[in-house]
Amino acid sequence: MALRFEVLARFNRARAARMTLPHFLCETPLFMPVGTQGTIKGLTTSQLEEIGCQIILGNTYHLALRPTSELIDELGGLHKFMNWSRALLTDSGGFQMVSLLHLADITENGVTFQSPVDGNPMLLTPEESIQIQNRIGADIIMALDDVVKTTTTGPRIEEAMYRTIRWIDRCIAAHQRPGEQNLFAIVQGGLDPVLRDICVKALTERNLPGYAIGGLAGGEDKDSFWRVVAQCTAALPEDKPRYVMGVGYPLDIVVCSALGADMYDCVYPTRTARFGTALVPEGVLKLKHKAMAEDIRPIDPTCACMVCRTYSRAYIHALVTKDAMGSQLLSYHNLYYMLQLSRDLHNSIIQGRFPEYVLVYSFLQFPKGD
Ligand code: GUN
Ligand code: ZN
Repeated sequence: MALRFEVLARFNRARAARMTLPHFLCETPLFMPVGTQGTIKGLTTSQLEEIGCQIILGNTYHLALRPTSELIDELGGLHKFMNWSRALLTDSGGFQMVSLLHLADITENGVTFQSPVDGNPMLLTPEESIQIQNRIGADIIMALDDVVKTTTTGPRIEEAMYRTIRWIDRCIAAHQRPGEQNLFAIVQGGLDPVLRDICVKALTERNLPGYAIGGLAGGEDKDSFWRVVAQCTAALPEDKPRYVMGVGYPLDIVVCSALGADMYDCVYPTRTARFGTALVPEGVLKLKHKAMAEDIRPIDPTCACMVCRTYSRAYIHALVTKDAMGSQLLSYHNLYYMLQLSRDLHNSIIQGRFPEYVLVYSFLQFPKGD
């Protein structure tokens, strides 16, 4: 195993931990920004270090198409290729194909899809996904899973869950670098507690370095979402990291951390930045709004980031539809906000004031108690 996970403090089910990975020592709860072509859109790797980013997600699907995993391998791995010395995680690729390409189809052998490059049919098997991720060289690699939307009903949910268990053994057998890269398994099973339970038990028996909760944030209601997270975190091993995939909004991260989850990733902070929206303690601030045109305050007067220390709302309002710099500055602030949230959660658990932190946080977002 190339991972050490030490829980430093708990508050009920919430935990603050230190996770030692081959390239970096991370502190949890932990938000991981999402990259695509070996970059977080609009930010340099030195800016990512400056805002305290510990680990980023590389997108296997995009990297495998261009510049290809063979080339990344030849050039010394993704860390070197993108000049990022801290930790990296790659997702297995199947989920991205199903969500991005509506032409993807899942069979027992793998995910078949039409190449967006030349339109030819292609197949991503569990073995191939692991081989690609071994070439890319991230600290954490994800198993290929069979993902169905949580809003799906019927036998397809059960089929996908059992297939995910069959595929984990193919992923484990294909993994060539267990001493340098940590393979995480992904719990599936939709919103069905019986299926989730079977999946957690089967995956836990494989004794992997970490576990993810998948198949969420796909349009299910919050109640069902939190129930699945609560059930899975309660059943997963205490001494291993728990990663809720594709989550989420700041408040979701606070709630999931209270339920005992440790890691998160989401495109929301950078995507919403490109639409002119800033994350602030009260919720969101729309920089395109004409009320911003003469507002000389920073985005968030309580934020210590470079953007809030340097620029006014009026300046960003003027840039936001006119120049790429507008969304770059907003992405910088939004990622800083998410990373600061992670640090605040970690510190409040360590210092025994997690409930107070959560209370103040939710009061700012819902001042009228709604
Ligand atoms: N990203 C968000 N949700 C999922 C999931 O269920 N599986 C995988 N592989 N990636 C995801
Ligand atoms: Zn800021």
